[in-house]
This record gives sequence, structure tokens and C-alpha cells, in this order.
Amino acid sequence: MNNNSNFKKGFHSICVKDPLIDGLSAHIPPIYATSTFAYENLEAAFDFFKSGGKNKDVYTYSRLGNPTVRFVADKIAALEAFGLDDISVFGLLFSSGMAAISAGILSFVKAGDKIITQGNLYGTTNELMVSFLKDYGIETIYADFTDLNFVEDAIINDEKIKLMYIETPANPTLACYNIDGLAAIAQNLGVKTIVDNTFATPYVQQPLKYGIDMVVHSSTKFLNGHGTATTGVLIGVEDGELFKRAYGIQKMIGAVCSPFDAFLLNNGVKTLALRMEQHQKNAMHLARFLSQRLEVEKVNYLGLETHENHELAKAQMNGFTGMLSFELKGGLDAGMNFMRGITFCTLTATLGTADTLVTHSASTSHVNVPREQRYQYGITDGLIRVSVGLENIEDVIADFENAFKNI
Ligand SMILES: Cc1ncc(COP(=O)(O)O)c(C=O)c1O
Repeated sequence: MNNNSNFKKGFHSICVKDPLIDGLSAHIPPIYATSTFAYENLEAAFDFFKSGGKNKDVYTYSRLGNPTVRFVADKIAALEAFGLDDISVFGLLFSSGMAAISAGILSFVKAGDKIITQGNLYGTTNELMVSFLKDYGIETIYADFTDLNFVEDAIINDEKIKLMYIETPANPTLACYNIDGLAAIAQNLGVKTIVDNTFATPYVQQPLKYGIDMVVHSSTKFLNGHGTATTGVLIGVEDGELFKRAYGIQKMIGAVCSPFDAFLLNNGVKTLALRMEQHQKNAMHLARFLSQRLEVEKVNYLGLETHENHELAKAQMNGFTGMLSFELKGGLDAGMNFMRGITFCTLTATLGTADTLVTHSASTSHVNVPREQRYQYGITDGLIRVSVGLENIEDVIADFENAFKNI
């Protein structure tokens, strides 16, 4: 829980400021590269074990807690809860986004329960629900989250639904869902809520503001910002039980973040606000350029008034993120040739790093997914996804201009 006075400061200050966590007042907190912590004496060990290891300020074993990992988790929790003085939150860092998502879901559901979610989830989250959790008696129901009446009726008619899982904005069309509306329905009907805030980060969107119970991130992406480590984070609103449950799952599953990866993540978080501003500025510029191109059928960028969720994004987000996608008129060939023409930007399927990343899903990540199935979720033959970086945007545009010549 956050009781560090640094966490009462402004958003930028929370990002850059680190606590003094070692006895030597190191300005930058050290990487505690240790699996175990020694007891001062037998009595200290006795006290610790007698309390059931519940004292969060005592370190014994790095799977149960490590100072480097803990202060970064607390910092990200403070950013997610920024300005929300009436709630108490906790943060846990994991070895990947998927580990955080798994622990988050398992904190709220057990065999016999159901999850209600959207069809356009991040692929592995979807796989976790339909291929894995199903075998353990947890069923997933898909709903159109743009239809709040449908969602409400679905929950009213099925008392086994215990969790609403939301990802917004979502791949690949940057679809947005009304967090306030969905949270209100869930709260009224006693259903818990999780939001995957990976695309937005707490600088751009704070789901906890709307009464969401838990936020998860692939902090591998914008939070780290430099592509240097695979990590995940879970931020929960404490209700007297949730920390114990989520922490217990992390302890048992053991998918903890390494101190080195936490250190790298913290370095990224220091510049989160500045980076997000520049990602967004560049993305807007690139989106406008793409909108003018005759080869482009459609540009999906939340900052464009033409995006169907532009108004919703304006209402619930502080900006429009650095993510966009666009559809080429020429289909699969155009998509593949466009990618062959890219020489400056990076061809890769991840997102949220300092440089611009370009993906053509139909020929790479989704090459083995049947066409009809891809189309259901907007992954059309000519769709290109861009995670817009921090370069001089003219250089990105010049690269795209060349790639258009290659179509
Ligand atoms: C929206 C979203 N959530 C979760 C994940 C999973 O994160 P990780 O790869 O860190 O496990 C990803 C990965 O791309 C993602 O894009």
C-alpha cells in the first residue's frame, strides 16, 4: 500500500522520484540481486515465521518480496491511482504481462464461475480464457461491449458471471469501450472488473477513476518504453481481501519480476509522461499523413474525428496513445509489399518502444489464423499496425512514402 509521501506529488514527480530504500541513501535504488535475506538472529526469524510472513516490510526470500521490485510496483500503483485520494491501492510486479493478467483473473474467479469479455482481446489473453481456464471450469462469455444494455442483461441472466474483463483501447482498430458505463453495470450487479491498460498507460487513462477493481499491464510495452525487459504489473483496489489473494497467487505461481527487470522498468517509467506526449504528437502527425494517401482505405487513430470512438476517447482518456492502424486498398499483396518497402522503421509485432514499430498481422502474427476468423476481429488483409515512436516524424513519413512506392 502507498504511504510514501513522495506518492502525494504530481504525476511527473512520481515518475522521476525514487525512494531511498537502502541504508546508504543511494540516489538510484540498487538492484537487490539476492534470492534470500538473512535474519539478524534467531528471535527475528521466530517473529517473522510466527506472523505467517505477513509483514510487508520484512524481506526474507525474493519470490515473496524484493526491495527493488517492491518500490517500482508501488510507484506504478501510485500513478494508476494518481489524484484518487479516496481509494487504497497495491501493486505487484510480475515476470510478464500474461503472468499479471493470469493472477488478476484468478484473484476473482474459481471453478464454476464465468467471465464476460469482448471478442477482440489480446490473443494470448483470449487463449488463456478459452483454451486454458475452460479446462479448470471457468467459462468465458463474449459480449459486444458497445451495447451496455446487452451486457447488463447478460449479467442479470447469468448469476455465474463473476468477472468483467475489459481491454481498451483494443487491437487492431483501437476500439474503445465505455469504462464508466461498464464499471457502473458491474458494480450494481456485484461483478468484479479488470481493465488491461497496456495501450494507454496511466498517463493517458486511469480506469480506477471509474470504480474498476483492478488494472493490469504488459509493462513490457509503454511503461518500460525501451523494449529492455518482459514484465507485467497488477494494481488492485484494496478491499481488505484482494491483496492477500493476488499476492498469494503470485507467491504460489511464482511468476515474479526479477530485480534487474524492475530496475529497467523504473528507468522507463521516469520518462513515461514525456514519452507519451511525444508518441501521441507523432502518431497524430502520421495519422493525418496517412489520411491523405490514396492507397489508404481507412486510418484507425483515436485522435482523428473520423474514428468512431473519437468522442468516447476524448471523454475518458488524456490523449489518444501512440498506437494506430491503417488499411491498404490493395489487400494482402499491398500489405506485404508495403512491409518490404520499410527500411527505417522496425518490423516487429511488439509495441510501445522508443522507435516506430510496424506490423502486418495477416502475413506474420495471424498467418495461421483462417481469414474469416481474422476478419471478425478487424485483422483484414491490408491492415498495418504502427506503434509510433519518438523519432523525427519526417523520417518515419519518408520511410512510409518509400514503402507506398513499393505497393
Ligand atoms: C494488450 C496486451 N495485453 C497483454 C499482453 C501480454 O503481455 P506480455 O507479452 O508482457 O506477457 C500484450 C502483449 O503484447 C498486450 O498487447
